[in-house]
Amino acid sequence: MNKSIVSFKNVTYQYPDGTTALKNISLSIQKGKKIALIGNNGAGKSTLFLLLNGILKPSEGEFFLQGKKITYTRKEIKALRQKVGIVFQNPDSQLFSTSVYEDIQFGPKNLKLTKEEIQETVEKSISLTETDTLKDKPPHFLSLGQKKRVAIAGIIAMGPELMILDEPTAGLDPYYSKKMMMILHELQDEDRTILLSTHSVDLAYEWADEIIVLHNGRIVAHGSPVDVFKQKDILQTSHLTQPWVMEVYEHLTSRSDYPRSKEELFVKLSSIK
Ligand SMILES: Nc1ncnc2c1ncn2[C@@H]1O[C@H](COP(=O)(O)OP(=O)(O)O)[C@@H](O)[C@H]1O
Ligand SMILES: [Mg+2]
Repeated sequence: MNKSIVSFKNVTYQYPDGTTALKNISLSIQKGKKIALIGNNGAGKSTLFLLLNGILKPSEGEFFLQGKKITYTRKEIKALRQKVGIVFQNPDSQLFSTSVYEDIQFGPKNLKLTKEEIQETVEKSISLTETDTLKDKPPHFLSLGQKKRVAIAGIIAMGPELMILDEPTAGLDPYYSKKMMMILHELQDEDRTILLSTHSVDLAYEWADEIIVLHNGRIVAHGSPVDVFKQKDILQTSHLTQPWVMEVYEHLTSRSDYPRSKEELFVKLSSIK
C-alpha cells in the first residue's frame, strides 16, 4: 500500500526573477512520521513548503497528493489544503483577525464542524500552546514568539493530516521551544505527519524520525538522524554541524551506537564507565 501523503517527482522551482530555488527534487512524505528539514539560509526550505501546500507550482516536474497527480484545479487545491496545513516562517503573513481567539478559530470555522466541535478544538489548542492569556489581544500587539505560538495554535486546531511548520521554534525562548517540540511530539501519531524546518541540528536530531538535508536547492541527504549526521563531509558542505550529543559521545567513547538525547547520553556514559 502506498502510504505517501504528498510526493514530488523531479521538481524544479524557479522564482520569476530567475532564481532557481529547488533543483530536481524527488521526495515522498510518508504517513505517521516526524520529519525535519534542515539546511542553511537560502537552501530552499521555505520554497519547498510553499510547493507542498500548493501556494507555488513547480516550474518542472510533478506533484502528487496521495498518489494522484495534481493538475492545480481549484478543487484539487482545496482538497490539498485540507490535508496539508502550514505555519509560515513569518507569523505576520498568517495572523490577520482582530483577536487571537478569532485567529485560532478561523481555520476550524472553515471546516465542516459544529459550533461545539469548533469551540472544543480551539480551547484544546489554546491550552496546549499556553496562549489563554493572549486570547483577547489583537495579534499585532504580540511579540514575535507569542505570534508564532498563536499561528501554531491555529494549525493545531485544524488538525491536518500533514502539519508543516517553517522554523517553529525560531524566536521562541528556551521554555517555549522545548514545549513546542513536546507538543509536536505528542501530536504525531500513525495518522498524522509532522514536517518542520529548523536551524537547530540538536533539535532535529533528538526529535525527528527522518532528516532531509537541503543545500542550494538540492536534497543532499535523506535518512535516519544517525545515518544523516554521521556523514561529516555532507554536514561540512551544507554548513551544518554534528549534534552535540553525537559529538560528545564519539569523542569520549569512539563508539557508533549513538544516543539520541542528553538523557540517553548520560545513561550510556555511566554504563561504560
Ligand atoms: N520571492 C522570491 N523571489 C526570488 N527569489 C526568492 C524568493 N523567495 C526566496 N527566494 C530565493 O530562493 C532561494 C531559497 O529561499 P528559501 O526557500 O527562502 O530558503 P530557506 O527557507 O531555506 O532559507 C534563496 O536563494 C532565496 O533568495
Ligand atoms: Mg525559510
